[in-house]
Amino acid sequence: MKATAKAHTNIALIKYWGKRDDALILPTNSSLSLTLDGFYTTTTVDFQEDLLQDRFILDNQPVEGEAYRRVTEFLDLIRRIAGKENLYADVHSTNDVPTAAGFASSASGFAALAAAGTKAIGLELSDRELSRLTRQGSGSACRSIYGGFAEWEMGNNADGSDSYAVPIAPAEHWDIRVAAVVLSSTMKKVSSRSGMKRTVETSPFYSGWVDTIPNDLLEIKEAIHAKDFEKTGSIAEANCLKMHATTLAADPPFTYWHDTTMRVMQTVQEMRENGIPAYFTIDAGPNVKVLYLPENEENIKKTLRNIPGVSDVILSKSGSGISYL
Ligand code: PMV
Repeated sequence: MKATAKAHTNIALIKYWGKRDDALILPTNSSLSLTLDGFYTTTTVDFQEDLLQDRFILDNQPVEGEAYRRVTEFLDLIRRIAGKENLYADVHSTNDVPTAAGFASSASGFAALAAAGTKAIGLELSDRELSRLTRQGSGSACRSIYGGFAEWEMGNNADGSDSYAVPIAPAEHWDIRVAAVVLSSTMKKVSSRSGMKRTVETSPFYSGWVDTIPNDLLEIKEAIHAKDFEKTGSIAEANCLKMHATTLAADPPFTYWHDTTMRVMQTVQEMRENGIPAYFTIDAGPNVKVLYLPENEENIKKTLRNIPGVSDVILSKSGSGISYL
């Protein structure tokens, strides 16, 4: 009972920031992302009658601790749906997500695990069912079921039955690109999990964040459908700044930014002043992702690489959804 699946990571243009239910991973706001071709995870799940527990090998290394626990708990969900509670699996994953690029590999990781695991155990799920299940491994992963642009609808039900991602526009709709700007220095990390929790519980700016999301979503979807780069980019950039503002007002306050993070943000704004359309977005870490159009690729790459404190710039096109190998 074996299957292999591949999933790409995604970058949120309208961020998921805050949970209303920690156990089921239900968000306080809907979000929207672009799936990226350059960063992916390939996972094989092999359920075997004679195994006494799950085994998880990531990039040829056996995994234990917290990461192992998250994988087995997710496999428990799959086993429960399939009614095969005592069937354990051998899980082999490879991440083609350069860790330094600052993409959470959890998005591509849980999407690939959900796809390979359900197929291996003999479940036939629709994309929507698969997205709803994937959400319970890692929130942002539920958007990686689809290629191109996807929206995670937050839903209202307490059991999470209406909280899943839906496709907005496929990768072929629009050749929009993303440069992942990797910084040379690192800093102490506040995980997205604990960062969003602290913000929800203590930041007086949090209600302002939640209130403005429906309009951001409405506007960015119009912009994406019209292929309006300026509008798409400026909404995404403002939404990112708004998310990061909530952390500054948390108790205790924190920020994911670094001096180089701000230098990259300023450079992107200067590029715009010089007539090159580019916009930034930043997740729960110091690295910056820059949105641009193909005709400006060379210029973008050169300008970003020259910023002091930047160690690498990795370019990506928009990517496809889940595939089975
Ligand atoms: O799903 P998580 O726990 O990796 O959280 C993702 C949070 C952000 O990356 C900051 C925003 C997002 O929507 O991806």
